[in-house]
Amino acid sequence: MKVNGKDYRTIWLEDGICKMINQNLLPHKFEIFEAKTYQETCVAIKTMITRGAGAIGAAAGFAMAQAAFENPDNNAETFLTKAKIEIEATRPTAQDLFAATARVFEKSLISSEEAVKEAQKIANENVDAGRKIGEFGAELLRDGMRVLTHCNAGWLAFVDWGTAISPVYVAKEQEKSIFVYSDETRPRLQGSRLSAWELYHNDIPHKIIPDNAAAALMQDGKIDIVITGADRIAANGDTANKIGTLEKAICAKYFDIPFYIAAPSSTFDKNCPSGKEIPIEYRSDDEVKMMEGIDSTGNLNKITVANPSSEALNPGFDVTPADLITGYITENGIKNGVENL
Ligand code: MRU
Repeated sequence: MKVNGKDYRTIWLEDGICKMINQNLLPHKFEIFEAKTYQETCVAIKTMITRGAGAIGAAAGFAMAQAAFENPDNNAETFLTKAKIEIEATRPTAQDLFAATARVFEKSLISSEEAVKEAQKIANENVDAGRKIGEFGAELLRDGMRVLTHCNAGWLAFVDWGTAISPVYVAKEQEKSIFVYSDETRPRLQGSRLSAWELYHNDIPHKIIPDNAAAALMQDGKIDIVITGADRIAANGDTANKIGTLEKAICAKYFDIPFYIAAPSSTFDKNCPSGKEIPIEYRSDDEVKMMEGIDSTGNLNKITVANPSSEALNPGFDVTPADLITGYITENGIKNGVENL
């Protein structure tokens, strides 16, 4: 996708350095963060400099490839196994992370060159899958439709294109006019900061809505379809996605609005029987109790907005049961169930 007229991927590996758009600074500043070692890439994943299921997967693959190069004793399995464990400890929910470390680890046992090749392959597959998801998903979008999305499953959350927003980008190429409502997505505001930034830069008409406004808009007949991404899809179709997704799915069911999950096949975890077994990441109190933004002097600052002595509970994800999901938009087509995915 283009930023100020220049083509960017969200994340890439160049001369052993993992380069990524610093998502913690958006929409206020556009900067590229450089992680020079696999451990720096781990920190970037953990602190959400890069984030989103597909981008995390690519980052994990690149980190594993960096580890292969840093290996002091070429191909020493102990070093690579330790690195794999460290990378996998960064964020527990996104299946793409584990799929990528497994693939690149196997190649890193052959050589660091093979590891890099595999990591680049994963990133390229992510781009292709995003584009195909866009093409299939656009079939669901008729001219004039209004889409609700939650969190950011656009191109920033992947290597390019994205999943939930990709159909909107393809529909635009097809000259359909699509309007997007973007949930702000408390507490980290991926919707109001990141999806809104993407939509704005791609000339997609949109509005940011408070997280608790979606039900009222559905009741007023203002939402035609809900499309979100996924961090992990269990074998029975239950889907983990950003906290708040479940609420939207329940509301959509109540108001008889189609609710779609858009995700590449790398997000399906066949070894996870149901949503109950998906590990849910809990994040810090500060994300709930503090807000970050640009102050009047143009500096990025954090302020406390909640009662400082109260504790917060901050689950990063929830699980939407399969029976609330109308279908899955994948790179292999739109499926009504998880069989043959
Ligand atoms: O915690 P994040 O920002 O990494 O959240 C993950 C997500 O991006 C969302 O849950 C998204 O909708 C899944 S698809 C990228």
